[in-house]
Amino acid sequence: MRTVYFVAPYPLETTLRFVRAVKGLAGVRLIGVVVEPPRDAVFDAVLTVRDPFDAGEIASRIRGAEPQLGRAHRVVGVLEDLQETLARVRHALGVEGPSLEVATAFRDKAQMKDLLRAHGVPVAQHCLIDSDAAAWSFVGRVGFPIVLKPPAGAGCRATYRVGDADGLRAALHEIVPSPQRVVLGEEFVSGEEHSFETITIGGVPRFHSISRYYPGPLDVVRNPWIQWVVLLPRDISGTEFDAARTVGRDAIQALGLRDGMTHMEWFRQPDGSVRVGEIAARPPGAQIVSLTSYAYDTDMYRAWGRAVVDGAYDGPFERKYAVGCAFLRGPGDGKVIAVDGLEAAQREVGPLVIETKLPRAGAPKSSSYEGDGYAIVRHPDTEVVKRAMLRIIETVRVRYA
Ligand SMILES: Nc1ncnc2c1ncn2[C@@H]1O[C@H](COP(=O)(O)OP(=O)(O)O)[C@@H](O)[C@H]1O
Ligand SMILES: [Mg+2]
Repeated sequence: MRTVYFVAPYPLETTLRFVRAVKGLAGVRLIGVVVEPPRDAVFDAVLTVRDPFDAGEIASRIRGAEPQLGRAHRVVGVLEDLQETLARVRHALGVEGPSLEVATAFRDKAQMKDLLRAHGVPVAQHCLIDSDAAAWSFVGRVGFPIVLKPPAGAGCRATYRVGDADGLRAALHEIVPSPQRVVLGEEFVSGEEHSFETITIGGVPRFHSISRYYPGPLDVVRNPWIQWVVLLPRDISGTEFDAARTVGRDAIQALGLRDGMTHMEWFRQPDGSVRVGEIAARPPGAQIVSLTSYAYDTDMYRAWGRAVVDGAYDGPFERKYAVGCAFLRGPGDGKVIAVDGLEAAQREVGPLVIETKLPRAGAPKSSSYEGDGYAIVRHPDTEVVKRAMLRIIETVRVRYA
């Protein structure tokens, strides 16, 4: 019996899918490390902590529980913001898994870009900005537009596209960069935005998947009415994805992950060349793990668990379907009052829909790019999925008041 400690401060459904997957592995006793225990009894036991970012507190809670619950075989978690804490806890307890050095390389976007560039992986020019003067000098070097964002953000938090001098003045007024408040500046990369996921074992990607975002996350966050789409085309074996595969593998090796799932974002620039946006050593959000499961007709939550708990990969998996997810949102603010067009959408594309989460009347409008609900469609033909996605986002309308 192996005891796995899963740090999940406020375990919601998205996290619980990973929790259940680890619970389903053979010979695992699963201990939740939480701030607030989940309602379903999904863990074999629960340790509560006060501060989920305090590695010292987590390590001492686990150490105290080990005589009774079992020595930690792994300490895992899926949240981006927790990855460095998890590494510190592992170090304190002498548990296998990504070190702090590796976790930081994946977490700190400036360090990540330095390492990627040094390994020949194409990335945007960047600069850590700690004063207005540093911002203007960076713009002098790369020109407008630029992107400003936190050096270790997630989910497009506090991310700005700055197009001209007035825009920069306004952004600097808001951000007020200083040595205590450093902001990351990046040259703006134009092009189509995609993702690239892997299951990596022993530093080698054994499995990969590719998706395309319509449009990119920053446009989605800046336009809270856009019903956007993640599309996994059925066939990703073509040479048009060779460059993404190469930079994906090189990025993982540059940052030093051994076992786990990675989620990289990359741009196809107008001239066809590829640039990496960022890479994370954790499973993707935006339903992409579910979408990947549907595309390969397998359980990718479990595949993540096998990688991080057992250092194992059960593939190869065959990509049998194209899959798309439309995120349901709409113009306006307030609470969801209605979802129009569901019956028409059901009539037109109903048989292709494989999973939905419908916006709940009365729920406050979500601030996340995942919107208030989603519809997932799958079919062996990519064009059929594309058309269905288009019909859904044209037909369904979430109303707020
Ligand atoms: N240098 C850049 N050029 C163009 N778009 C960018 C750039 N940096 C970020 N973005 C946009 O902002 C989004 C969020 O930035 P990202 O670096 O992925 O941080 P996060 O961790 O918040 O996802 C990206 O998905 C992309 O749409
Ligand atoms: Mg991102």
